[in-house]
Amino acid sequence: MDRNEISHWLRETDETRLEALWRMADETRKRCVGDEVHLRGLVEVSNHCVRSCAYCGIAACAPKVERYRVTTEEILECADRAKEFGFGTVVMQAGEDPGIDREWMAEVVRGIKARTGLAITLSLGERNEGDLKAWREAGADRYLLRFETTDPELYRQIHPSLPGSVSDRIDQLLKMRDIGFEIGTGVMVGIPGQTWDTLANDIWTFRDYDMDMIGIGPYISSPGTPLDGALGVELKARAGKEQTPNDPLTALKVLALTRLVCPETNIPSTTALATLDPTSGRANGLLRGANVVMPNLTPSNYRVLYQIYPGKAGLHETADITRAKIEAQIMGLGRTVGRGPGTSPRVGRRESAQ
Ligand code: 5AD
Repeated sequence: MDRNEISHWLRETDETRLEALWRMADETRKRCVGDEVHLRGLVEVSNHCVRSCAYCGIAACAPKVERYRVTTEEILECADRAKEFGFGTVVMQAGEDPGIDREWMAEVVRGIKARTGLAITLSLGERNEGDLKAWREAGADRYLLRFETTDPELYRQIHPSLPGSVSDRIDQLLKMRDIGFEIGTGVMVGIPGQTWDTLANDIWTFRDYDMDMIGIGPYISSPGTPLDGALGVELKARAGKEQTPNDPLTALKVLALTRLVCPETNIPSTTALATLDPTSGRANGLLRGANVVMPNLTPSNYRVLYQIYPGKAGLHETADITRAKIEAQIMGLGRTVGRGPGTSPRVGRRESAQ
């Protein structure tokens, strides 16, 4: 599959032809990563953020957001739940929060490893090399940092406070890989100003850099953010007929095509997909290329404050309910719950080649 074919598939609307795409993606998923669905327990450790990303409901500039930081003890309790639930990984995610300092996070990572032995993923925004090395040494295994779009101009417009360009962000990811992390990235689908060609290029970029994990979700307008207002209108007008829709179908096409060009990567069926289509979003993701789900373990009192977009699936659930629903869904699809850390087969091969 080349970039032109990707572009062509993205614009496809014929349901019968799309059936062929879904089938190819599902077959590739089965052949290359199997029937296991790996569960990663997500803990949203802080909603403080110094950045002003134009799409995000917890951006620094977002008014009326009550800010929180989860305590070490609470995070360790979440990690215990992850272990008890049989998950293979704990993911710690936050806004870009300088209050998460190097030593504190290193201590948390060591604590989780010592108690649970689980794989640890960090998703804490752009951090300096010293922080990243310290966290890797403490035992963190993976780092997630989506590049969101490969269009340099759009990247700049939706990230007005980020110091670097999209190529700097990709360099960051590569630096993380050098430090020893498995690296994950991803994009939002249907960002105002995103065109079909940009989206095709995003998918091609996943392949170029051989990403270990790729998260894809529809963009969901977050009230009061610049992208929900004048900036969004302006960017959409600029893209005109080439504007991509932020619907589940388009996100699923991106997911399926990503599975085809990165057959062994770990791809979650994302919460954003489940949010836009509560009845079948998550299942459709799993049927069209995804092999990972990230059940939310954040304590309920904090969960409601981590609204990067409105109506996030599972907002008012407890960890037990979320987990039971997801496991039932996995079984219902004839799939199995993954055991072990769920590392992409790609990673082992890359390491042995070194
Ligand atoms: N809609 C959908 N996804 C969003 N994210 C942030 N804001 C939104 C939104 N409004 C995604 C970004 C980020 C990830 C943590 O959540 O891709 O990297």
